[in-house]
This record gives sequence, structure tokens and C-alpha cells, in this order.
Amino acid sequence: MPTTGLTVEVLLTPEDLRESLLADARRGLTARPKSLSPVWFYDEHGSALFDEITRLPEYYLTRAERGLLEAHAAEIAAAAGADTLVELGSGTSDKTRLLLDAMTATGRLHRYAPLDVSEDTLRAAAAAVAREYPAVEVHAVVADFHRHLDALPGGRRRLVAFLGSTIGNLTPEQRRRFLFDLDCALTCDDRLLLGVDLVKDPGRLVAAYDDARGVTAAFNRNALSVLNRMLDASFDPGMFEHVAEWNADDQWMDIRLRATTEHVVKVGALDLDVRFQRGEDLHTEISAKFTPERIVDELAYAGFVSEGTWGGGGDFMLVLARPYC
Ligand code: SAH
Ligand code: TRP
Repeated sequence: MPTTGLTVEVLLTPEDLRESLLADARRGLTARPKSLSPVWFYDEHGSALFDEITRLPEYYLTRAERGLLEAHAAEIAAAAGADTLVELGSGTSDKTRLLLDAMTATGRLHRYAPLDVSEDTLRAAAAAVAREYPAVEVHAVVADFHRHLDALPGGRRRLVAFLGSTIGNLTPEQRRRFLFDLDCALTCDDRLLLGVDLVKDPGRLVAAYDDARGVTAAFNRNALSVLNRMLDASFDPGMFEHVAEWNADDQWMDIRLRATTEHVVKVGALDLDVRFQRGEDLHTEISAKFTPERIVDELAYAGFVSEGTWGGGGDFMLVLARPYC
């Protein structure tokens, strides 16, 4: 069935994505310690694995954030007063429906603009929302939120949602830049809704990133399959062990792939041989955890005034902020 109220804008083509992957792999695989950037988790299979992660008993984040949205979306929608919902790293747009419902109820919502690097997942999610919300114009954008914040879809009053603790996957430096760039991209009437995970018992954190069924391990190893497919590499995911550790100094989860034997991996597209020592780590992700004070401070540093927070006493927190004007 054709969907009328749907457009898809592509700011990041598959060729751009491959260019980024080439540059990132060249840098990360020749660095010490070796690293890879987290964007490569989210091909179609990776997005499906992430969706499975969100339903794991150990992965409390999605349930906690959904609970906060169920309880407070009406209040958030009223405070934001927005006619446009922009969502960064929207994935399947699953929890977003709670915001869409609350914003529809205010009578103001016109437009939903999900933005993601993962084109297939984005197209499917945008089409589903367009079908379910015929009164809402859906304008999906295939883009990288590190590069394309200056090209966000407009609106008279926008609410920009960045959920799922995805901000925690940015390094402190990327995070600072991201928040500054976003602050510059917003007008005085726009609002930011940020979902962040909070510091808690390390045992629960480790379990959330190393679940009993091994779904997170498969998600982590899938990054290697993406390299194999896109860069003609010869990684054997079975030769790497999934490692998730709480880094107390930096207050983040360190997620890595550890080589179980010494071996050499060929990366055809880079004409590169990469030697792994036994026990050597390939760093794939951080997931930073915050205190309510710290995230409010970081937002202030980037030029945002926090107007409200929800869940600050529990596992996860939502912050509604506006640019200082
Ligand atoms: N917001 C959803 C999905 C979180 S998973 C939720 O809360 O459950 C993170 C999402 O961000 C994925 O869909 C991934 O493709 C996307 N993403 C990761 N890095 C990105 C980048 N640099 N630019 C745009 N999207 C990105
Ligand atoms: N934003 C999610 C988080 O930090 C992404 C995520 C969940 C993730 N599980 C992961 C990233 C495992 C890498 C490895 O919770």
C-alpha cells in the first residue's frame, strides 16, 4: 500500500558510508590499542540484534525509559509545545510512539523527522509510523548526527529527541562537540529531550552488556561481519571473545572484542594485514553513565538550560532542555 505522507531524504549515501568505514577501519585497526567506531554495529542484522537486546531481562535501559515516557510524555509534550518531532538515532522508533501519541493529543503535531545512519531500518520504521499516524507528515533523513546537524528538518517549534542513552556511546570529546553543534542548530523555541543512563551497581551494568543468552556478544561480533562484507576482510568472529567491563575512572562501560589466539586478519579493501596477539583487545564501544548533576552541567556548558528532569532518583533519566536564549 503506498504511503503518501512519507519522504526519505538521503544525506549519507551507501558510498559515503563505505568511505567512512574505510577511513575508520584504517585508523582504528592500525592504532594502539585497536578500535572501531560503534556506527558499524547497525547494519540490518545488527539493528535486529539490538532490537532483541532491548527485550532482554538484563537490559533494563529500554524498559526504564519506556516507563518514564509512559508516565510523563503528556507533561513533556505540553512543556515542549512542538509541531515537529525530530529524532536522532531513531532506530525502530518504537518508544517514540509514546511521544507521538502525547504530541498528537496536544493538537499541534504536524511532522515527525526520524534521522539514522541505518537506511533500511529507518525506511521501515518511517513507513510504519506514516501508516499508523496518517495525520502526521513523516520526513525521514538518512544522515550521521556527527556531520549533519546543520541540515535538520525545520519546523516552527521542534522537539529534538535523542533517546536510548545513545549519547553515552559518544566519547567525551564527541559529546561536547555534538551538544555544541546541536545548540547552534536549534532556535530559541526548540527543545531537546535527552535519555541518559545513570550510574548504578556495576554488577547490573555488566549484566546489561553481557547477557546470559549472548545476544550482546553476537551484536558486538556482528561489527566484524560488517567489516568482512563491506571491506572484504577475513575476520573470524569465533576467534574473538566479547568483553564488557565497568571503567570506574571514566564512569563508562568499556566494550571490546578480545582475540583468543594470535592470528592475522586480511582487510582486502585496505590492502592491510592486521596482526592480533593472543588476548589483544579491539575496542568497539563505550557506554557512559551519568549522575543527574553531571549531565545537567554538561548541557549547561554547551549552552542548554534544563527545564525538567524525570527519573533522576532511579535507573534512567529524561532531561528536557532549551537553548539559552
Ligand atoms: N533510539 C532507539 C535506538 C537506539 S540504538 C532506542 O532508543 O531504542 C542507536 C541508533 O542510533 C541506531 O539505530 C543507530 O543506527 C543510530 N546511530 C548510531 N550512530 C549514529 C550516527 N552517527 N548518526 C545517526 N544515527 C546513528
Ligand atoms: N545505546 C545503547 C547503550 O549504550 C547501545 C548498546 C546496547 C550497545 N548494548 C550494547 C552498544 C552493546 C555496544 C554493545 O546501552
